[in-house]
Amino acid sequence: MKTNDLTRFYKKHYNLKVLKLPVSNKKLLVLVFDDKYYYYLEKDKFPEYNKTNSILNLVDEISNTYKLKIKNYYPVCFCNDTLVFAFRVGNVESSELNRVPINQIPDKYKKLVKFHIDNFNLSYISSTVNTEIETSLKYINRYKFHEKYIKRYILTEKKRKKAEFKKMIYDILPNKESIIDISCGDSTDLFEVASKHGYKTVVGNDVCIKYLSQTPYKNVVYTNDNVEYNNIKNNSYDVVFCKNTLHHMNSLIGINNLLNLMDNISKTGIVIIEIIDPREHLGLPKLLNKWLYRKFLKDNGECFLNEMQFKSVVSSSFKEYDIKYDMFTNILGKYMVAYIKKED
Ligand SMILES: C[S@@+](CC[C@H](N)C(=O)[O-])C[C@H]1O[C@@H](n2cnc3c(N)ncnc32)[C@H](O)[C@@H]1O
Repeated sequence: MKTNDLTRFYKKHYNLKVLKLPVSNKKLLVLVFDDKYYYYLEKDKFPEYNKTNSILNLVDEISNTYKLKIKNYYPVCFCNDTLVFAFRVGNVESSELNRVPINQIPDKYKKLVKFHIDNFNLSYISSTVNTEIETSLKYINRYKFHEKYIKRYILTEKKRKKAEFKKMIYDILPNKESIIDISCGDSTDLFEVASKHGYKTVVGNDVCIKYLSQTPYKNVVYTNDNVEYNNIKNNSYDVVFCKNTLHHMNSLIGINNLLNLMDNISKTGIVIIEIIDPREHLGLPKLLNKWLYRKFLKDNGECFLNEMQFKSVVSSSFKEYDIKYDMFTNILGKYMVAYIKKED
């Protein structure tokens, strides 16, 4: 599969409904809507496109054309052969777009909009996820500063033992075809390792759109789903990768749901890496967590686990599989690593 063909990608990996509605003869149609469920149309049409190679380019193109602040994008359905995306937007300053209340949607789109509201209304209402998204949009310049200066000159790759870390991931990954990092943030480590390994489909997902566009990595398909609500098909990826994200769930129930989702969408194995509760450390990891991650970068995660809790939640979610645990330590703290082997 060519990873840059969006239509094929979404047909293969997502459970998208096909609505027999003649809304467009182009390849892509974009439902632009805001938090109050007003829709935005250019004259009486939703934006349509024929290029289907990179969703991040499309996000850029639409943001620039209409001067929009896009908060999320996600696939909605197919209307015949047209792939429909939803773009949730914040501010709309464009004079080219008309703000249309639901009861004035043109007839041609009525069923499609109803489908969108009925099926996706809940996708982004969780307050944790909304805070996560808003914070990332608001403090993106701090992230850039962190990337450009702090990581380059203070918490250097050497201090973070990047090379050893990537080697460890390389050795864990099985020789397979497809892999998803369900919450990649601005990290490209997995993408590097997976392409070296020869993975053909590499997906970087994160609910915060701003991180995705920071360092687009060649041949990676970027998705912007809230992993807690998505339409990814079961057994869709050989390997699912998740680093430092369990503590972003708002409870143990949230963590268990996430582990369950990883089980559903993976076929061969799951790699979970999670920093051990930095508040239990003395010294640098505790200080970095408090001052750099929480106070400066406004990291929202609070549901940290210690080593025993990590092993306990992972082992009880994956009772029937072989699990290999490991530990990785660098200047930022201690990380628990679990490789859950589902099949060869
Ligand atoms: C601490 S960062 C880790 C990023 C990256 N995995 C790394 O190790 O550098 C946690 C990431 O999880 C993402 N995240 C949190 N909740 C999510 C959700 N429900 N769906 C998808 N991503 C989520 C955040 O946006 C953030 O980028």
